[in-house]
Amino acid sequence: MAMRFSVLTLFPELVESIAQTSITGRALKNGHIELQTIQIRDFAINAYGQVDDALYGGGTGMLLRPEPVYAAWLQATGQTGQPEVVHHPEKVRTIFLSPKGRVLNQAMVEELTTCQHLILICGHYEGIDQRVLDVLVDEEVSIGDYVLTGGEIAAAVLIDAVSRLVPGVLPDQSAHELESHSLGRLEHPQYTRPSSWQGLKVPEVLLSGHQARIDRFQYLSSLKDTLVKRPDLFNQLQLSAGEYQELIEYTCQDPDPLL
Ligand SMILES: C[S@@+](CC[C@H](N)C(=O)[O-])C[C@H]1O[C@@H](n2cnc3c(N)ncnc32)[C@H](O)[C@@H]1O
Repeated sequence: MAMRFSVLTLFPELVESIAQTSITGRALKNGHIELQTIQIRDFAINAYGQVDDALYGGGTGMLLRPEPVYAAWLQATGQTGQPEVVHHPEKVRTIFLSPKGRVLNQAMVEELTTCQHLILICGHYEGIDQRVLDVLVDEEVSIGDYVLTGGEIAAAVLIDAVSRLVPGVLPDQSAHELESHSLGRLEHPQYTRPSSWQGLKVPEVLLSGHQARIDRFQYLSSLKDTLVKRPDLFNQLQLSAGEYQELIEYTCQDPDPLL
């Protein structure tokens, strides 16, 4: 069954243009994922298309009103007649993209692939009235500790990261298992042709054809990259005494000015 994304937004074209490009675009065409964008303004409170209002308690900027967001959510859940807000986050999860949310990481992305339907609510302006968030949202997700103008790019990031784990989306399903963060460390440095470029040579071992040595080299260079670039991740790795020793020997053979 295809993984379904419904995005509640004032700027559907922004999410669509990103999702319809490259690998996610192909996944949409092949039916591995489905994308429904719902224009919040279609549920405006008046003929002027009003969806926002001034803040109670003062302050600059406008806030999205609860009624249009609620009506858009009902459409995403396919509800007609007597609406009901029922939460089954293990199957259908409503996520508000927000700088206050849990910061997205690969473990969260993997967990989200177990859902069948993700409903992504994008805020704009100052955000969204808290009451409708309290009623609808299962989880708030941030894509980093900074503030965007709207949730659309954050939604597109989440769709991209989740989609590439959906079976069939990547040509080689095991490819992502060796990528940065999947194993708690960063991917090893990679090289392609030519084997010598501007006097810089591809590491000899990669041309040797000796797969066991190549695997060990890639493992150790992945550990070294993690140590240098993300010591926070490195400190969480459970390495044996032997592996530490091997890493020390490897880095001494190939000294790095950053170490
Ligand atoms: C200008 S922001 C509102 C910020 C809000 N007033 C606050 O200080 O927390 C407008 C919208 O952009 C989205 N957004 C902003 N930064 C984000 C982030 N780091 N991750 C995910 N969504 C974000 C949210 O949907 C938010 O409602």
